[in-house]
Amino acid sequence: MSLLSQIFPPSLAYTEKDVPELFGKARLCHYSVYLITGGYSGVGLEVCRVLYHRGGRVIIVGRSQESYETVVEDIMTNPGETADSEPGSLEFVKVDLADLANINPAIEKLLRRIERLDVVWYNAGVMFPPVGSKTKQGYELQWGTNVVAHFALHKLLTPILTSTAASSPAGTVRAIWVSSIAHTRSPKPYGINFDDINYTKTRSLFSWITYAQSKAGAVLLADEYAKRSVVDAALSEDGTKKNHVISISLNPGNLKTNLRRHSSRLSNILFHFILYPQRLGGITELYGGLAPETGVEEFNGGYVIPFGRKGEIATHVKKGLTEAGTGKKLWDLLEEEVKPYI
Ligand SMILES: NC(=O)c1ccc[n+]([C@@H]2O[C@H](COP(=O)([O-])OP(=O)(O)OC[C@H]3O[C@@H](n4cnc5c(N)ncnc54)[C@H](OP(=O)(O)O)[C@@H]3O)[C@@H](O)[C@H]2O)c1
Repeated sequence: MSLLSQIFPPSLAYTEKDVPELFGKARLCHYSVYLITGGYSGVGLEVCRVLYHRGGRVIIVGRSQESYETVVEDIMTNPGETADSEPGSLEFVKVDLADLANINPAIEKLLRRIERLDVVWYNAGVMFPPVGSKTKQGYELQWGTNVVAHFALHKLLTPILTSTAASSPAGTVRAIWVSSIAHTRSPKPYGINFDDINYTKTRSLFSWITYAQSKAGAVLLADEYAKRSVVDAALSEDGTKKNHVISISLNPGNLKTNLRRHSSRLSNILFHFILYPQRLGGITELYGGLAPETGVEEFNGGYVIPFGRKGEIATHVKKGLTEAGTGKKLWDLLEEEVKPYI
C-alpha cells in the first residue's frame, strides 16, 4: 500500500507557497545559505528556483559550468508557483562527483566565502549507466557518484553545518540525502552487498542493482548521521546542549527528468505514463529541507515520501540498521576510503 501511494501520491499538502521567506531566517543580517548538488537540472533545479525566489543564497554544486549558465536566467525570471519576495542569489561550484580528487579543493575555496550553511541537499545522481561504468577512482559509477562522493562532500561540510546549527533555531539546519523508491529493491538481506560493494565479482547484466544499493546507501547515511549529529553538538562550557543538524532521507517521486538518459527508448515510453512533473519532486525535497514538521527531534533520521509526507524505509534496510549495524558499518568503511581525499 505504501509503495503504491509513493507511485501514485495523493494531492499536495505542502507547496512552494509554504516555503518561508529565507532572507534573514535566523535573524542575522545576511542570507540563509543553501547548497544542492545537481541543482541545474531536474528536481534540483526546482528546489533552486524556490530557494532563490524566497530570498536564499543558493549554491549549486555541479560538473558543468555551461549547464549552470543555461538555467540561471530561467531560474531568475521564472518563479513558478513561488510566493513573491525579495530574490536571493545564485552561485556555482564546479565539482565532478565522479572524481573524489576535485571535491576538496573546490569546497575548501567555497568555505572561505560562506559563514553558514543552513540546508544541504545531496541530490545529484546517476542511474542505470552501462554496466562497467566507473568513477575516476574505480568505483562503480552509481555507487561512487551517489554515495562515496556525497559522503566525502558531507565530511567537508560537517563543521560548517554543525556550527550553523549551534547558533540557529532548533531543527532549521539540515542534511538531506536523496534516495529513491528503488532502495526497496536493494540487495538482500540488508540493502548493501558489503562483500562486493562495486559488483566486480558478482555478475550483473543490468546496473539497477547498484543503483538500488546506492539509494539504500543514502538511507543508511541519513540514519547514521542523525545519530552522529546529536553527538557532534557537544555540550558547551556552561553545560547547555547546542542545537544539532537534522538528517533526513527521501524519495522525491517518479519524475520526468534527465535521470533516465541511459534507459532504453521503450522503457522511457512505458514509464512516461507514470512519471510526474519535476516540480513535484522539488516539493518533496523542500518539504524535507524546510517544513517545520520535518525539523523536529522525532524526525531526525526520518524518511520523506512523495510529494511531502512522512514515510517508512524498506523493511530489510531497516532490519540492517537495527540488527546488523549497517549504518555504522557503511560510515566507517567510507570514512577510511575518502580519507586520502579530504
Ligand atoms: N527522476 C526520478 O524519477 C527520481 C526518482 C527517485 C529518485 N531520484 C533521485 O533524484 C535525484 C535528482 O535526479 P533527477 O531526477 O533530477 O535527475 P537529473 O535531472 O538527471 O539530475 C541529476 C543531476 O545529477 C548531476 N550529476 C550526475 N553525475 C554527476 C557528477 N559526476 N558530478 C556532478 N553532478 C552529477 C547531473 O548533472 P549533469 O546534468 O551534468 O549530468 C544532474 O544535475 C537523484 O539523486 C535521483 O537518483 C529521481
